[in-house]
Amino acid sequence: MFTSLFLKMLNREAASRKNKSERIIESLRIQEGYRIADIGSGGGYFTLKFARKVGEAGKVYAVDTRTKYLDFVRRQAEREGLDNIIFVPAAGDEINLPQAALDLVFARNVFHHLTEPAKYFHNLKRFLKPGGKVAIIDHKPKAGFSFVSLFRHHTPEEFILQEMENAGYFLVESFDFLSEQTFNLFGVK
Ligand SMILES: C[S@@+](CC[C@H](N)C(=O)[O-])C[C@H]1O[C@@H](n2cnc3c(N)ncnc32)[C@H](O)[C@@H]1O
Repeated sequence: MFTSLFLKMLNREAASRKNKSERIIESLRIQEGYRIADIGSGGGYFTLKFARKVGEAGKVYAVDTRTKYLDFVRRQAEREGLDNIIFVPAAGDEINLPQAALDLVFARNVFHHLTEPAKYFHNLKRFLKPGGKVAIIDHKPKAGFSFVSLFRHHTPEEFILQEMENAGYFLVESFDFLSEQTFNLFGVK
């Protein structure tokens, strides 16, 4: 019950106007047939959008450490008749994805959860196809009292850029249309 309310809240937040989900998806230039991993898929807002976008020939891997969250997304996918989503329970940094298979790794509001982000993204490289990209969106630190600042659910952009450099990536593009989050796209060096 609480899980479902929480995940619906996450999905409402992802869908809110100020968070510009359509513009995010446009910026990713997703094509039919793409294989995408949605790391920390949460309530599945982006997982389901990606699944529609990549079509029958594509696949979306919904990755989360919480199996209850994956079950919530699975139920929505079944209701919507989407059968191109693979649900991948992750144990911390341990993920089971196919090697050299992904066009895109997407991680929204997850970076701040990772204890060793450089190691995490270094290990993820083996799942990317040559030319595959990693998109990272996270909250900007902000002053004052809010859910994000209270629970430190944010990451300074310089830290993300440095950790990704250490993990062996280069910056492909930085998008600045989100007022409360940073959004960067990386390729493998
Ligand atoms: C704030 S939610 C973001 C959910 C979704 N990406 C969104 O934008 O609405 C963070 C999610 O990351 C998951 N998570 C945290 N650490 C993780 C890890 N190491 N691997 C995979 N998922 C993780 C959490 O269980 C949660 O579902």
